[in-house]
Amino acid sequence: MIILGVESSCDETAAAVLIDGKLASNVINSQIEIHRLYGGVVPELASRHHLQNIYPVVQAALDQAGLTLDELDGMAVTQGPGLVGALLIGLSFVKAISLVKKIPYVGVDHLVGHLLSVFLGERKPEFPFIALIASGGHSSIFLVNSTFDYQLLGRSRDDAAGEAFDKVAKLLGLPYPGGPIISRLAVDGNRQAIAFPRAWLAPDSLDFSFSGVKTSVANHVNACRKANLELAVPDICASFQEAVAEVLVHKTMQAAAAKGIKNLVVAGGVAANPRLRELFAEHCPAKGLTLFLVPLEFCTDNAAMIALAGAYQFENNKTLSYDMDAYSRTPILQ
Ligand code: KG4
Ligand code: ZN
Repeated sequence: MIILGVESSCDETAAAVLIDGKLASNVINSQIEIHRLYGGVVPELASRHHLQNIYPVVQAALDQAGLTLDELDGMAVTQGPGLVGALLIGLSFVKAISLVKKIPYVGVDHLVGHLLSVFLGERKPEFPFIALIASGGHSSIFLVNSTFDYQLLGRSRDDAAGEAFDKVAKLLGLPYPGGPIISRLAVDGNRQAIAFPRAWLAPDSLDFSFSGVKTSVANHVNACRKANLELAVPDICASFQEAVAEVLVHKTMQAAAAKGIKNLVVAGGVAANPRLRELFAEHCPAKGLTLFLVPLEFCTDNAAMIALAGAYQFENNKTLSYDMDAYSRTPILQ
């Protein structure tokens, strides 16, 4: 089966082709340079650039796979959650192709894309598994029983992990997105330099809260500035990163223990963080957990994961009608 995947939920316009479960092309046009000027994603600008990019990105994905539209068996497009104006560009594009070329299509939840992105890697977990999705919009723990059966166990109550990285970078005067730059600077910092708080919440809670640690970094920065002290940026980055990573690792492992699950998957943009990957790898063996880290190239937003999640839907004979709409919040979190 030949599937085209399309993703336009935030600031990446992406398209990928999957042939019988194997990736034939994976094209990503990132708008990071555009939004960096404003310190974060500007929705209207994102929509406009998706509109400019969608045709060449899809064409490049088809070219790299050596295919034309006529050879597609199906298409998968991100339906939500995300910026509705941005989502609608991908969705309308796919609907139009579907109508003209009579190719069936499915709508994919962006979070399900992240949940199943682990199957794009060489090592594939067996069901059931516990999955952490840590991204710019979500920090959630799921029990995943099959390609279509997911149970939400915990979620962020305020800032998502990636959002906290982005906000902390901003207050340190570092460019958007914060995660990559903070993790690079943290390499030269001392993780124990500043004791930023860890929000464990109630002992059995699998929810996350990262707004406290963000505020604590802001207070530290303000105190240093008031006292005319030079900011020890690498130390702040390393200490902040450690506070976030520790909570993500601990709670995900706690979820696995609570549900008696041995396979653990780490996905989403923040899963690209080297320290987070290192901490998971360090702690999982002692608890008898088998760790599956999503390959780096599939952690941040891409259309390969959307094509793959769509392929599973086609296997289950799902297709969509033309009146389906984009959504900004995900139903799988409700
Ligand atoms: O999954 P993703 O590409 O988009 C969303 O679905 O939100 O995640 C983007 C987020 C951003 O907040 C970015 O700062 C964060 O992932 N991120 C990282 C790293 N690389 C990207 N966070 C921490 N460390 C990284 N190396
Ligand atoms: Zn994402």
